[in-house]
Amino acid sequence: MAQTERLLIGGEWVEAASKAVFEVTNPATGDVIAKVADAGREETRQAIHAAARAFPEWSGATAKTRADALTKACQLMLERKEELARLMTTEQGKPLAEARGEVVYAAGFLEWYAGEAVRVYGETIPASVTTKRLVVLRQPIGVVAAITPWNFPSAMITRKIAPALAAGCTVVVKPAEQTPLSALALGRIFLEAGFPPGVVNIVTSRDPREVGAELLSNPIVRKVTFTGSTEVGKLLMRQAADQVKKVSLELGGHAPFIVFEDADLDAAADGAVASKFRNMGQTCVCANRLYVHRSVVDAFTRKFTERVAKLKMGNGLEEGVQVGPLIDEQGFKKVEAHVADAVAQGAVVLLGGKPRRDGAFAKGYFYEPTVLTGVKDSMRIMKEETFGPVAPIEPFDTEDEVIRKANDTPYGLAAYFYSRDVGRVWRVAERLEYGIVGANDALPSVPQAPFGGWKESGIGREGGREGMEPFLETKYVSMGGI
Ligand code: SIN
Repeated sequence: MAQTERLLIGGEWVEAASKAVFEVTNPATGDVIAKVADAGREETRQAIHAAARAFPEWSGATAKTRADALTKACQLMLERKEELARLMTTEQGKPLAEARGEVVYAAGFLEWYAGEAVRVYGETIPASVTTKRLVVLRQPIGVVAAITPWNFPSAMITRKIAPALAAGCTVVVKPAEQTPLSALALGRIFLEAGFPPGVVNIVTSRDPREVGAELLSNPIVRKVTFTGSTEVGKLLMRQAADQVKKVSLELGGHAPFIVFEDADLDAAADGAVASKFRNMGQTCVCANRLYVHRSVVDAFTRKFTERVAKLKMGNGLEEGVQVGPLIDEQGFKKVEAHVADAVAQGAVVLLGGKPRRDGAFAKGYFYEPTVLTGVKDSMRIMKEETFGPVAPIEPFDTEDEVIRKANDTPYGLAAYFYSRDVGRVWRVAERLEYGIVGANDALPSVPQAPFGGWKESGIGREGGREGMEPFLETKYVSMGGI
């Protein structure tokens, strides 16, 4: 019997006014694992009002009080790592080892911003006359709406709301409809950690449009922070324009992964597997296209394909599984379409290239880890975000050529390259038009560093010192008569 979950509004667990619920399924088995309250505009409005009521007390609390609550929430997350990880794997599909890693990563944002909460400094500026004092204050922006994705059901919530809470903001979280359970588990942790009622509110919904429309149009919400597709990000930006509502957007990517002729090929092959198949290829920073110098392309492809062939696919709850199911039918169909288009245009399937439907795989969205060669720039997979476990490999001849190809995209989130030439490492890192560059590093994301994209990959940064900025307003106070 599936559990039924409610909304978190003003510190209370409540049903949707209509009593409507929606089902959450396990993408590995198709089983219904929970029913969750299906909120609409009315419940969203209530959550916004609850956040507004909680704002004066929370923003007026000492920074230490906010830091202590974040630290407590971090401790609780780590104590419940196993439970949270299992829940995440059950609703999202990622292998348990990755889910455990995500819980630690997510808790890391709580820890980092507990530290930053007490370091929100203002400034004094020398005045032009002796009778004035000029002061700059940093103050919390107000009620924040956080719209979060399914691919990192915990970490994308804490990466957004930990800095908001540290700054003194109150929040309404709208988690992805595929993964509301991890969000609600976090809600319980925030309450237990001593966050006052209304500081953290969680509104789950089957259809993000109604909730989103209220979050974007309600003038009480001063800031919207979103992670998701570039298409939806553009829509939200247009909607936010009417009220000049501040937005932070973490959008799509199309990461190039470049292997130069002087690279350590084993390290590059390990890195490419880690970057490409993390979360079944469903991250915004996953390598989407591999460019390998022509002189080493055969050797690299052999090493890479050998490693990919050993990846264990299955239900993420089984220990040792490294590749789970894709999140849903839509994601699955996109992967199929990218491979079909590549093959139709002459790509060669070295490994995989098809769904897995036998035995225990029958009811899940499993797609075999796939390696393609003979790819061309005209193929969809070389231009559009695949969000799946498919690695296309294309040879290149010169540094200039590969930099041009790498930058020839509207996206600018993450790029990777492997080289042992220190001059090249500096040069290429500087020439790549991306917000995140992994130089001999396939997994650069950490709580203390700024994460975000150039061009159509987004606006603003999450993580690190920069991650506080979107939640703070600047106020210049000129004091006369002194
Ligand atoms: C994302 O895919 O948006 C997040 C990936 C990460 O934090 O590394």
